[in-house]
Amino acid sequence: MEPENVSPFNWNDATVLVTGGAGFIGSHTCRKLLELGASVISLDNYNCIYTPDMKHDNMRRLQEDFGQRVVDLHADIADRRQFEAALAPYADRINAVVHLAALTSVFDSTDNPDEYVNVNVNATQHIADWMKDHDIRKMVFASSSSVYGYRNTAPFFETDDVSKPSSVYAATKIMCENLLHTYAGLYNMQVVALRFFNIYGPAQPPSLVIHKFAEQIFNKQPVTVYGDGSFQRDYTYVGDATNAIAQALAYDKANYDVFNIGTCEIYSVLDIIRHLEEKLGMPANVTHLPQPPGDVPLTHADTSKAQTELGYKTTKSFNDGIAEFVDWFLSYHNALQETVS
Ligand SMILES: NC(=O)c1ccc[n+]([C@@H]2O[C@H](COP(=O)([O-])OP(=O)(O)OC[C@H]3O[C@@H](n4cnc5c(N)ncnc54)[C@H](O)[C@@H]3O)[C@@H](O)[C@H]2O)c1
Repeated sequence: MEPENVSPFNWNDATVLVTGGAGFIGSHTCRKLLELGASVISLDNYNCIYTPDMKHDNMRRLQEDFGQRVVDLHADIADRRQFEAALAPYADRINAVVHLAALTSVFDSTDNPDEYVNVNVNATQHIADWMKDHDIRKMVFASSSSVYGYRNTAPFFETDDVSKPSSVYAATKIMCENLLHTYAGLYNMQVVALRFFNIYGPAQPPSLVIHKFAEQIFNKQPVTVYGDGSFQRDYTYVGDATNAIAQALAYDKANYDVFNIGTCEIYSVLDIIRHLEEKLGMPANVTHLPQPPGDVPLTHADTSKAQTELGYKTTKSFNDGIAEFVDWFLSYHNALQETVS
């Protein structure tokens, strides 16, 4: 169905709400949108899943570079009254929402399913409802490659069956996609769900595998690999993900659509370690742990739909992206050491 009454995107007049805006993809997204000329309102609860200092640094740098075009709101999307009160002074000028705030760990979701459904699903419904109430029609939602579940055939297409998730985290992302599809149809919104395939780059959280391994190699600790290290992933540079978010905000061909955002190239866990050893110039002492349930052996995107419809393309090879991550990692460590000494 062709959308009606949804104005095309005009960056210089735009104010975009970015939930999870202080986080990894969120802060890179804010920067991208600010560079395009938009103003951003970040809403984040600065949770402690990894050090909030990293998120405060992200936001401080944005405010230094872009001044009053950045609003930094501290609120919990799982507390409807709280986030609505925080957004009340700004609701009239928000044109679009990039909804990134979520709990993000496949393994942790097995232990805390209530929390994952509450923050990822219930809060997403509340945000969509708040948008409807304020006549805000455009949302880009961060979905995940995990929706494809346990697969050994590749690549993955948007038309593939996603009814068999293997983790609570993946199930919450599918629930959100379905819910947002319904809201888009009922209330004439434009929603784009981007299925991100392992995003990496500067300021990546320490819990994510590339940063975690870099930390272990750098600190001469055992590098903890689940299983035999043969699991393969499609790794996407964060700058390509934020380009896709901007392209999705400008996309107006359908009320609801979904796109894979990956690179179509895959690397095993052991490949990642080899790249990090080379860039850090340090050897890894690998130790193997049993594979926890919920994780999938393979992710591999077909991105032809995003290329055709959004104009998406990858701009950085994995080799260059890892080099950029390692440069950031080393300067981050230097800064930490200067603070301590
Ligand atoms: N990084 C990846 O590889 C990847 C892959 C697929 C999908 N995604 C999705 O992209 C989004 C962003 O992920 P990220 O890697 O930047 O993680 P992140 O943890 O750095 O960012 C999430 C941000 O959301 C905030 N947040 C969490 N719960 C909140 C709440 N209740 N209220 C307000 N703020 C809250 C956190 O404080 C954090 O700053 C998530 O939805 C994630 O599921 C990420």
